[in-house]
Amino acid sequence: MEKIVSLCKRRGFIYQSSELYGGWNGFWDYGPNGAELKRNLRDTWWHAMTRFRDDVVGLDATIIMHPSIWKASGHVDTFNDPMCACKSCNKLVRADQAWSVLEETRWFASLAATFDPASTSCNEEKLRKWIPRDGSQHAPNLALIRDPDAAFGRIAARISSGAPLDVRDFVQTLATSDPASGWRTPCPHCGGELGDAKPFNLMLKTNTGPIASEENVSYLRPETAQAIFAQFKNVFDSSRVRVPFGIAQIGKAFRNEITPRNFTFRSREFEQMELEFFILPDEAVELICGSVLPFTEGMDLSEPKPNWGWEVWHRYWLKERTDYYRSIGLPTEVLDFYWQSEADLAHYARATVDILFQFPFGCEELEGIAARGNFDLSQHQTHSGKPLEIFDEELKAAAANLDEKQREDFIQKTHANRRKPETTIEETRAYCESLFQGCYIPHVIEPSAGLDRLALAILSNAFEEEKVTDAKGKEETRTVLHFHPRIAPVKCAVFPLLKNRPELVAEAKRITALLRRHMAVYYDESGAIGRRYRRQDEIGTPFCVTVDFDTVGENGPENQGTVTLRHRDSMEQTRVRVEDLIQILSAHLAP
Ligand code: GAP
Repeated sequence: MEKIVSLCKRRGFIYQSSELYGGWNGFWDYGPNGAELKRNLRDTWWHAMTRFRDDVVGLDATIIMHPSIWKASGHVDTFNDPMCACKSCNKLVRADQAWSVLEETRWFASLAATFDPASTSCNEEKLRKWIPRDGSQHAPNLALIRDPDAAFGRIAARISSGAPLDVRDFVQTLATSDPASGWRTPCPHCGGELGDAKPFNLMLKTNTGPIASEENVSYLRPETAQAIFAQFKNVFDSSRVRVPFGIAQIGKAFRNEITPRNFTFRSREFEQMELEFFILPDEAVELICGSVLPFTEGMDLSEPKPNWGWEVWHRYWLKERTDYYRSIGLPTEVLDFYWQSEADLAHYARATVDILFQFPFGCEELEGIAARGNFDLSQHQTHSGKPLEIFDEELKAAAANLDEKQREDFIQKTHANRRKPETTIEETRAYCESLFQGCYIPHVIEPSAGLDRLALAILSNAFEEEKVTDAKGKEETRTVLHFHPRIAPVKCAVFPLLKNRPELVAEAKRITALLRRHMAVYYDESGAIGRRYRRQDEIGTPFCVTVDFDTVGENGPENQGTVTLRHRDSMEQTRVRVEDLIQILSAHLAP
């Protein structure tokens, strides 16, 4: 990870925000190459999700919206992380991350080294030496430092009790002066005792209008999704769309993360790429099609069908998103899929699958795909008092064909299949009557990805330090980013072989201008050609074109009008005609 962070800074991908003033935790800036990389990723997502489809339209909503939206969505009341405050230094730590944050500290590593896992005991001599060194300096508030004898007594008592100790038990024993309220993980910042976990709302607040008061508190959106629900009716009424259809949005989101970390992975300001794909409730599908197609392993998901229920749509979007990742250089082999268990699921969610990527610091979420029922639109309907139901002529016509008995059977079957046991038969009846009139609140499948996480995954996946042998037989390390050409910040670099030969420079500049109309190109004339290749390898440029004496006809007419085209990954060089360049390169950039 350190190598990637260093490359990102050195080559203008990612810088710490406000570095000039010591940095600002949880915020990151994208430099020239990072801005291009992000733009390319954003474009590939937008194209895949909207332009290449008939059934998804776009939205670009504001970051600050009516605060009632966040009340309705549940974010005001429940968008919390459990947080502990250190009783000594008052710093805050996310309760569920306290141990992993601690593990990243230097003082933890040296303290853990005094533990002997084989004998599940500690090396007392080493530990006593640790106290005045790392301990006093970096963890001055650790119970062990404040009262070593008491801590040694606690360790001895735990060992003599016979229960096996692991390193976590060991550290917690040294950190907890009063075990009566349970063993505690120490504060990663000073070793002090962490207080009980309390909920901490992650939304960033601001005030709109000239007076900063409780009445005009507003929030920087913590997700882009809610604007899509809030504008659902406007989009539906103004876009000639029919359910099933989706609304996609890319934009900034803000979360006051307690412990932003792992570079850009968990930031306080980040960008999301979200789709809300609205589908008919299964009961409506059944009325129209006679039955709902169940999901079966290996079924054909290439073309949506009218009889798909939510489960098949959910699988369909997983496939679509996996195909997307493959198209930008993240094949299924580097991804993992985590299906949330019933216990993990939000109360309204029917299923959620997380797409994970093996980052250098662990296998973590890149995107979540949730089947959210009609929770969000229902909430906004209730809180705004405005109807968000839609009318479907085909549904009404299908229901009109049912006689009284068939309708009653349908109501009873729907009631038997209800998800919430507390739903009364009257409520089910009202819901079905509404369907018979052709009205319903659409359900939704939500693929929600983070652009910054994707950029980090792409950088991690592309990074390689390769041992290569140069022309003189000397071994060296080549740092290379194997970006897919579609997302590489620079697609092609153009070099004149020598910068002091005007005819080479003129032709290289002419080719640069020619290519620039079609793709991002970079002209470079400084340094040895090998050094120029290495610079491009480091920023992941897939192609380099060199203009040499053959190109300008100095070695005869045979190769006049040709250049060498160097391929980043194989380092192979081929001779191609200048007039074929655009076609050759464009073939690699097409989706
Ligand atoms: N609307 C659903 C939603 O927001 P989420 O799992 O909280 O779901 C979706 O976020 C995606 O947004 C995540 O999979 C991740 O890629 C990205 N994301 C969430 N929090 C983030 C953070 N603090 N920093 C960077 N990316 C984040």
